[in-house]
Amino acid sequence: MTMEEKVKELLDLRTQARMGGGQKRIDKQHSQNKLTARERINLLLDEGSFEEFDMFVTHRCTNFGLENESYLSDGVVTGYGTIDGRTVYVFAQDFTIFGGSLSESFAKKICKIMDIAMKVGAPVIGINDSGGARIQEGVNSLAGYAEIFQRNIMASGVIPQISAIFGPCAGGAVYSPALTDFILMSKQSSYMFLTGPKVVKSVTGEDVTQDQLGGAQVHATKSSVAHFTSETEQEGLMKIRKLFSYLPSNNMEEAPMVECNDSIHRMEDRLNTIIPDNPNKPYDVKDVIHDIVDNREFFEVHEAYAPNIVVGFARFNGRVVGIVANNPKYLAGVLDNNSSRKGARFVRFCDAFNIPLVTLEDVPGFLPGTNQEYNGIIIHGAKLLFAYGEATVPKITVILRKAYGGAYCVMSSKHLRGDVNYAWPTAEIAVMGPKGAIEVLMSKEIKKIENSEEKAAFVVEQEENYRSQFANPYVAAKYGYIDEVIEPRNTRYRIIRALESMVNKRDTNPPKKHSNIPL
Ligand code: HXC
Repeated sequence: MTMEEKVKELLDLRTQARMGGGQKRIDKQHSQNKLTARERINLLLDEGSFEEFDMFVTHRCTNFGLENESYLSDGVVTGYGTIDGRTVYVFAQDFTIFGGSLSESFAKKICKIMDIAMKVGAPVIGINDSGGARIQEGVNSLAGYAEIFQRNIMASGVIPQISAIFGPCAGGAVYSPALTDFILMSKQSSYMFLTGPKVVKSVTGEDVTQDQLGGAQVHATKSSVAHFTSETEQEGLMKIRKLFSYLPSNNMEEAPMVECNDSIHRMEDRLNTIIPDNPNKPYDVKDVIHDIVDNREFFEVHEAYAPNIVVGFARFNGRVVGIVANNPKYLAGVLDNNSSRKGARFVRFCDAFNIPLVTLEDVPGFLPGTNQEYNGIIIHGAKLLFAYGEATVPKITVILRKAYGGAYCVMSSKHLRGDVNYAWPTAEIAVMGPKGAIEVLMSKEIKKIENSEEKAAFVVEQEENYRSQFANPYVAAKYGYIDEVIEPRNTRYRIIRALESMVNKRDTNPPKKHSNIPL
């Protein structure tokens, strides 16, 4: 062959590889509103930046007649490219080849890019669309999965790992995304479950559709498996690009700074009146967040799950932070099992990747009751406590209103190495709210009063008395547990200054193999 012919052969092979499992299967994919693996990668990455690896890999299986059927790239497209100019390693499962099912060779391709990503300190984004283990390959496929799991685990806390689910993700295959930092599911076409509807029916008798069992909505609202959802794949890929912009490339770096064109001195007068006079009335903490962060831009994580705590990324003067905020709009902002777990996971992610934490606190305490106790509020609440106490990134706290009981301690208090702890003048810091406190402290006196009107008046008076003594920030400030009581409208500036003062913060935990966070 002449050189020209050899080059042509290469180009022909590339064209063949790019056709995946063939036009018919590509058309089927499109008819289901699904993109192909390469189309997805091209949308995710900066235009023209994708460099593909292992295009000519094929499987080595000779079972069930597979020796007569093979496709270049073997069902997964791997390589690297850039997002906003920053390197990222990617893999996208190709459903047009054996339903994106995972073979030994397929797994090796994924492991190869994961190994390189770890060496160079670049994130990995995986796009999942697969029928699971390639049945014909038997244990070799299972081994391939386990090799990937092991790499997911080693990479955890070293490089950010992000998963998009744009098709089936079932059986043990769910565990690779589950080991990554963030999962996005498209509402149109994705589902994740350990066992499908048929097995569920035969084992439990339950009738359930794929969507009810493991659709995007279910995982975003009920199980917390999905951190994000999207209406379409295109929207999902744009969301991942946005998420990426808040993350450092690895645990030795800081998240990228951007130029801030929002005045750091911006005062928000409405914050001086946002807390209702009645302490039992709600407001939306997201209004506070939007008012104080750069350009009012807040990238929320787990938006549809446990809305009584709000977590997500934002910037102050161009610097990325993780925000954790109790939201009185839902369940009075109480800490329960779900919100504690949600908060803890986010705090740990931020700490692992050098992202400072800004905590906005308005929490009446932990939610009482058998439901919470039976489901382990002691353990789940301890997760959030542990995560904050272990975190060594800069920790800035602002108590907006209630900081009652154990929740005061947990929410990045001074005693858990909070660095700068502010309170608004509306802060109420005490062991419990006035009603509960008076019931405990004055029960004998209350019982003695027979006249019901007199009784009610006595209770009101005692509650008022308690409130004036404890429902303010000044007792805590007197002991130095609060560094300063700040004017609400000036919160943006105060947080920016606090973050800047913490730029060179160094803090460590004692050497150990690893901690034993209550799981
Ligand atoms: C080999 C597979 C496959 C698999 C699909 N295909 N799944 N080939 N191994 N696991 C092939 C089909 O034969 C078909 O080939 C093509 O992919 C497309 O599949 P269809 O069934 O036509 O597509 P669709 O109707 O959209 O259904 C998709 C599906 C279904 C729901 C995913 O294919 C399915 O149920 N597959 C099996 C899923 C499964 O049980 N996997 C094992 C789970 S256990 P042609 O040639 O017609 O295009 C597991 C353990 C992992 O994964 C453990 C890790 C620790």
